Amino acid sequence: MAIILWNDAQINAVIENYQIYVNPWLASLMKFGGFGDVEMEAEGCIVRTASGEEYLDCLGGYGVFSLGHRHPKVIEAVKNQLNRMPLSSRTFFSQPQAELAARLAELAPGDLQYSFFCNSGTEAIEGAIKIARIATGKTNFICMVGGFHGKSMGGLSATGRDQYKTAFEPLVPGFTHISFNDVKEAAAAMDDRTAGIIVEPIQGEGGIRVPSPDYLPALREICDNCGALLIVDEVQTGLGRTGKLFAVEHRSVKPDMMTLAKALGGGVMPIGAVMGTPAIWERAFSENPLIHTSTFGGNPLACSAGLAALNVTIEEKLPVRAAEMGDRLMKGLRQVQTTHPDALVEVRGMGLMVGAEFAVKDVAELCINGMARRGVIAAYTLNNPKVIRFEPPLIITADQVDRVVSAFSESVAEAKEMLGL
Ligand SMILES: Cc1ncc(COP(=O)(O)O)c(C=O)c1O
Repeated sequence: MAIILWNDAQINAVIENYQIYVNPWLASLMKFGGFGDVEMEAEGCIVRTASGEEYLDCLGGYGVFSLGHRHPKVIEAVKNQLNRMPLSSRTFFSQPQAELAARLAELAPGDLQYSFFCNSGTEAIEGAIKIARIATGKTNFICMVGGFHGKSMGGLSATGRDQYKTAFEPLVPGFTHISFNDVKEAAAAMDDRTAGIIVEPIQGEGGIRVPSPDYLPALREICDNCGALLIVDEVQTGLGRTGKLFAVEHRSVKPDMMTLAKALGGGVMPIGAVMGTPAIWERAFSENPLIHTSTFGGNPLACSAGLAALNVTIEEKLPVRAAEMGDRLMKGLRQVQTTHPDALVEVRGMGLMVGAEFAVKDVAELCINGMARRGVIAAYTLNNPKVIRFEPPLIITADQVDRVVSAFSESVAEAKEMLGL
């Protein structure tokens, strides 16, 4: 389908509505980032705008578009459901929800069997916090500095960056933040009030930080020793992005609870989920099955998208693809680092969850703008603006990876020149 191009006045009208009716400061930020255009349609790894520009989506909606935009099998599943029953009556049993829960139980690590469905990552974390509290009878959580778990009050309490939290204090009590990847601190922070440890297997918004291989197994052991739950937030790492279906599989760790969102909707529908073991669900829901609910959570459209997304991820062997393309991307970015070792401190990641850390954040900012002008969408990580993250669809081709590396290389050189570095 060809886009009918818009003129500047039409584009500016959309931006103006943002300025007047949505958030003028956000509108300025978006324009400064090089995104002063209107998105019109998308397919695979490509996003097209109203002015006729074509972008390679290397941000992937912060991890949403693992299957690319508008994967035909997800679209078909959602259209079929749309024609039958988009939302649930919330009285009868719903087949898409039942099937998605069963498929997740089949694929998830360890004893994770039950799923509570919601609509976003932060809601999944809210669910995890509440269910962990009721299941353990304890109130406190250990979380990580630099960790990101969303911006609802519970999610924010678990999040480890003051910039987003201070204005909303007092937050939920009982959250302690410790250094990520520090086993000793984790052991020292545990006490008999600790309901659980909430941790990302790889910190996404914290700057794509991969912990040492023994970290998650050590947290597992600490939780076992103290009778606390290991709650793993796979909202960003989940469903193939890191080279395994779930990132904890790299370390053979079996969590007590796991949160999912983003890619679970196949890039078509919003959905979140919190999974738990039978013992946890029994303690949380047996007395009152309605103790935690959501009107739209588990709706048929979202669940049919989720089911199709899981099937496509497995049929198309996307975790393997993520590992291969991720290696190629990291190799390319590291080549750029050898040319600019002063500006580019480190390239790191796993699969197609890759970060490039700069010495100063101004270079990262200008580089994002430079990449946008070269037709590549990228962004910095929310809790660490010195890091540009690369999270393209897992279906990205080798040629497209090479294009990203070229755009990055040119943009780093240009940013350094502009800053006189
Ligand atoms: C690890 C993690 N948890 C939770 C969230 C919150 O998800 P949402 O923005 O859907 O609420 C995010 C979002 O980036 C995330 O990366």
